[in-house]
Amino acid sequence: MNETEAETSGQLQAAEFGRPMLEQHFPHVARRGVLMLNNGSFGVAPKSVLDCKLRLTEEFESFADEFVRLRQVDLNYSSLEAIARRLRVRPQQCALLENVTIGVSNILRRLLALEPPGSQVLINSWTYIAVRMAATEAGEAPEAKLQLPLKSGEDVLRAVEQELDRRPKVRIAVFDHITSTTACLMPVKELTALCRNRGIKVIIDGAHAIGQVPNLDIEDIGADFYLGNLNKWHFLPKSVALMWISEAHVSTMKPDIVSWLLHDEVLPHRYSYLGTRDTSSFYVIPEALKFIDEICGGLDRVYEYCRSLADEASSYLAGFWGTDLLPLPADMQAPFMRLIRLPQHLQRPAIKKFAEETRFESNMWKFLAYKLKMDLLILNIEDSLFIRIAASIVVDMNDIRLVGDTMMRLKETDFVLD
Ligand SMILES: Cc1ncc(COP(=O)(O)O)c(C=O)c1O
Repeated sequence: MNETEAETSGQLQAAEFGRPMLEQHFPHVARRGVLMLNNGSFGVAPKSVLDCKLRLTEEFESFADEFVRLRQVDLNYSSLEAIARRLRVRPQQCALLENVTIGVSNILRRLLALEPPGSQVLINSWTYIAVRMAATEAGEAPEAKLQLPLKSGEDVLRAVEQELDRRPKVRIAVFDHITSTTACLMPVKELTALCRNRGIKVIIDGAHAIGQVPNLDIEDIGADFYLGNLNKWHFLPKSVALMWISEAHVSTMKPDIVSWLLHDEVLPHRYSYLGTRDTSSFYVIPEALKFIDEICGGLDRVYEYCRSLADEASSYLAGFWGTDLLPLPADMQAPFMRLIRLPQHLQRPAIKKFAEETRFESNMWKFLAYKLKMDLLILNIEDSLFIRIAASIVVDMNDIRLVGDTMMRLKETDFVLD
């Protein structure tokens, strides 16, 4: 059967991942000419999804009254229903938000208002910075100390248990499903059980999880709240995230922003109209799911590709550079993201200093992006520089080999910006 016959018979040919995928379906990314090895930070959306978003924006802009009065709430619900069905959760227990940061702040504020004054939020050494800041806004936030090398999930559970034993005021705990700076897949189900047995409410920050954790079963984790970005690993544009809420909190949860639908009986409606804003990214979820099904050949195929690319890329780079991976057990490595120690000649004090620049627009990032045309994360962990790679469908081993060679050729004197 040729391609046209296959298409007319309904069997679409799944596209080839790597450069062909980049060029055919992400031409806007290809045009910039920057190697996208940092999908973990913001993700990339395909052209078809961006076109759909633009059509919706035009619809809004061309007759806003009609869009807001007659279309918006329904579009929101049907989009939410589409992703909820995929994740096997009830849409009535979910809401669409712009991002995880907004969700964590909202949940913490609501939960803490119901707890006695002085209640604390448990975080840990690898909690995402913005989430850590939200936890500390409420007061002191006890921190479970996690140490490398991590031998198993038991190490994490023990650290959390020890901290809880010393901290009776902890009423809420936040755990990343996949941590950002260490790319670690956390034992969230066990952590949740540990906390809930002590009457502590649990929020899971799944910013990286939807699309990356295979067979994600949100309800089975047993937490009170689950949050996940859809722009990172689910081919949605910025800004759209899913918040799932356990049955017990559905009637009381509401957004911090007070607007027209605040008291609606239906939870997702309460979050659907927070004043005039452009939420076109919310409504293209069905288009992103179509991209996953028809162009990628399903999420399982994406998973297989990214997971095996992450495995191959990380062992290739560590071998080529004569270094190692961040010491995590194999079953706790994020499926698509890995940290590899940079070669010895790049572990020099001047380069570390350059990389440690903590402002948002760090010197190291500018150097990599503008001089080398590579979007990569460099992290200093326990006084050693690591590269975090994110394997996505728009990269392949040729890109990884280029990173390997480029880093090998860099010298200390290269790290000076014009
Ligand atoms: C673990 C984790 N939590 C939360 C966030 C925040 O996501 P956003 O900036 O989309 O709110 C990130 C972002 O990368 C993250 O890695």
